[in-house]
Amino acid sequence: MSALSLSLPGGTWALGDMTVTRFGYGAMQLAGPGVMGPPADRDGALAVLREAVDLGITHIDTSDAYGPRITNQLIREALHPYPETLRIVTKVGARRDEQGGWPPARRPDQLRRQVEENLESLGLETLDLVNLRLGDAAGPQAGSIAEAFETLAGLQRQGVIRHLGVSNATAEQIAEARSIAPIVCVQNMYNLAHRHDDELIDRLAAEGIAYVPFFPLGGFSPLQSSTLSAVAARLEATPMSVALAWLLHRSPNILLIPGTSSVAHLRENVAGARLSLSDEDLAELDGIGRG
Ligand SMILES: NC(=O)c1ccc[n+]([C@@H]2O[C@H](COP(=O)([O-])OP(=O)(O)OC[C@H]3O[C@@H](n4cnc5c(N)ncnc54)[C@H](OP(=O)(O)O)[C@@H]3O)[C@@H](O)[C@H]2O)c1
Repeated sequence: MSALSLSLPGGTWALGDMTVTRFGYGAMQLAGPGVMGPPADRDGALAVLREAVDLGITHIDTSDAYGPRITNQLIREALHPYPETLRIVTKVGARRDEQGGWPPARRPDQLRRQVEENLESLGLETLDLVNLRLGDAAGPQAGSIAEAFETLAGLQRQGVIRHLGVSNATAEQIAEARSIAPIVCVQNMYNLAHRHDDELIDRLAAEGIAYVPFFPLGGFSPLQSSTLSAVAARLEATPMSVALAWLLHRSPNILLIPGTSSVAHLRENVAGARLSLSDEDLAELDGIGRG
């Protein structure tokens, strides 16, 4: 762990036997519009990835479905051979169709193929952490995940995958996954305004399992709240900074993977997440999700 990473806001967290900075980076926004095709500014995308590592970030979230393949190829081009401390977290369970949709691809043969494709596009022999992506664009959907998760657990036993997680999952699916193999993280949608997983986060924290919110800044529709803007104005900070700092305050098992295609925004987000929030600020911000 470099001295730099120790100075990132939030400190570190143990994903199983892997230590990562709680401030990570989500690479989805590096692909082209609609997460399809190459970025308009390829050099800019490579620069963002290199800056993330230079800032001390040791957790990058990706998927071969981004582009598809584009984001993983950019990560490889920018960062391979990877620093020893860097953990690249990927996900399987969906493919892309010609319209840019994300149909599920969770049959055992599809999952094995996606794992192979991730290994190839990232230039790795072992994947540090693979999340099984569930549900659909509307959110988690109930149903057994046993066959799919057993497939990934088999690949873990073969040494192809180091750790497992689930994404876009219900509490029942998380329990089912854990009855098959240990998980080190859950990656679901959560932010200041979308707090369906509040109880789940607390339960996972008590069990030492990370919760990695996707869309921490609202994703494709940036967080908008007059309360958030008022707190940000009072603190002379941006709403994005407040939203990230709030997540770090919310629970020690929350890991941040905000996405950006801009070096300036990446720096701004790292600096902004350091913001210290008073009890009064936290109480006001807590009201947003309840309102
Ligand atoms: N498991 C899943 O199903 C799933 C689903 C979605 C996402 N994810 C993961 O979660 C990560 C985070 O989600 P996300 O990137 O979609 O959403 P996000 O982090 O909530 O928001 C990213 C958006 O915020 C903008 N942004 C970031 N910093 C900013 C700043 N300082 N000022 C102004 N705008 C700023 C970005 O635009 P700029 O590029 O202009 O900065 C981008 O449009 C993804 O990268 C992906 O790895 C997982």
